[in-house]
Amino acid sequence: MTTHPIHLHHDDPAHGGERACMSRRSFLLAGGAMVTLASLPGTAVAALKALKADYPAVKIGKLSRLKTGEPLEFAYPYPDVNNILVKLGAEAGGGVGPQADVVAFNQQCTHMGGPLQGTYKAKHQALGPCPLHLTTFDLTRHGMVISGHATESLPQIVLEVRGDDIYAVGVQGLIYGYSSNRAGR
Ligand code: FES
Repeated sequence: MTTHPIHLHHDDPAHGGERACMSRRSFLLAGGAMVTLASLPGTAVAALKALKADYPAVKIGKLSRLKTGEPLEFAYPYPDVNNILVKLGAEAGGGVGPQADVVAFNQQCTHMGGPLQGTYKAKHQALGPCPLHLTTFDLTRHGMVISGHATESLPQIVLEVRGDDIYAVGVQGLIYGYSSNRAGR
């Protein structure tokens, strides 16, 4: 089973990206089109796992210092790869911490590499809309596309908690502009 973003007609800039975000989310919630890893066939899960690359663990923050809805930025696995670390306040796929709500994602749009810095919407736990073509990503569901032109989920930074420390230990998905996670650009 594969998933495809559903193109609604609300992603026109004249209608506002945030409204588009809600339209897609509302559609998914209402239509039951949500896909979880558990619901995917074995081959699809294997394909997703194949996209995960492990990198040396790097400490990127402390649980006790994170405030819900206030993201921090960090570079990983390379100095020029910018990511967001955020406590969503809602349980998330791949989330860590006592509420499983702390996640991290790359901030380059998977469509054409648009910069997503500063676009986090705490109310919807979403990143976007991208300033180029308005794609918005759901951070509670592994960076799945909510609306817009991108077809790939946002690369998720794999996290581990050791005591109060949060470590980045890998990347799930291919960062825009890279031919492979290991080989670099
Ligand atoms: S580059 Fe982000 S939607 Fe096109």
